[in-house]
Amino acid sequence: MDAGLRTTLQEMPKAELHIHIEGSLEPELIFALAARNGITLAYHSIDELRRAYAFTDLQSFLDIYYAGASVLLTEQDFFDMTWAYLQRAHGDHVCHTEIFFDPQTHTARGVAFSTVIDGVHRALREAQVQLGMSGALIMCFLRHLPEEDALATLEQALPHRAKLIGVGLDSSERGHPPENFARVFARCKALGLHLVAHAGEEGPPAYIETALDVLHVERIDHGVRCLEDAALTQRLARDKVPLTVCPLSNVKLRVFDRLSDHNLLRLLDAGLVATVNSDDPAYFGGYMNDNLVQTFEALPLQRKHAQQLAHNSFVASFLDNVTKEKYLAEVDAFFLR
Ligand code: ADE
Ligand code: ZN
Repeated sequence: MDAGLRTTLQEMPKAELHIHIEGSLEPELIFALAARNGITLAYHSIDELRRAYAFTDLQSFLDIYYAGASVLLTEQDFFDMTWAYLQRAHGDHVCHTEIFFDPQTHTARGVAFSTVIDGVHRALREAQVQLGMSGALIMCFLRHLPEEDALATLEQALPHRAKLIGVGLDSSERGHPPENFARVFARCKALGLHLVAHAGEEGPPAYIETALDVLHVERIDHGVRCLEDAALTQRLARDKVPLTVCPLSNVKLRVFDRLSDHNLLRLLDAGLVATVNSDDPAYFGGYMNDNLVQTFEALPLQRKHAQQLAHNSFVASFLDNVTKEKYLAEVDAFFLR
């Protein structure tokens, strides 16, 4: 790729809309937190842990991801993890980020809900002050657990309502369709929360449809399998439903064999509001700019696509319209240089 396009990708202002904060936990920090908290890990070294990051599908990743998150105990742990991600994202010219977190992974281990959300939220406030970055929190429900657990988690979140911009649905997709979470999503909608769901990552296009029709989500996380259904693809384009696409994740979890097989360009050509994101950067080999640069190297994507992706990232965000317009003007100004 020519050096000019690489610099454009790296330096253009952008938003990240699909990042699981627990997936930003680097092996070095996992070991440091384990030592700080007196936890013995099943892996003896950072290298041994890294070598275990050879995934065959979503579930094989999730098993290791949940094990890694077990070192998080204190508010400071959640702050340190989030602050490390925010500094990395800032270095990638991410000026706005909407962060997923999985409270059930922690409350199931006896960590208080407030410990989790207060640590993550404190880091977001610090990023606004120190880095001039905006950020928001999306609480995800784990779909491999019963809806009753999600409803109980929502109860715990109510005193923290003001710290949340929305809710999402993640974890093992196959066999856990969106419609299983209709009641909890209806309650969240009534609370004025934004709604998103992982769908069409490993699961079929039908899960994208029920996420829209039953859960009433505003964005689809991943959604890459939509292209298997022409009518669905047309609907997503017509209704401008954004997709938060994560190319490196899709290759690591074998949704696509190689980055050169990825359908990002086909999604854009179909008129979809696709965005590029890192998903779980510590596990999948890269942060935002690694995803952009490697995907542009693998596919015939050009400068106009970079501009489209930067634009889409803010259009698809849950920012208020004034702030959205401010960032979109920054994108336009950047590409006029
Ligand atoms: N949790 C963290 N990363 C995920 C992914 N890619 N899909 C579903 N759940 C997840
Ligand atoms: Zn994800």
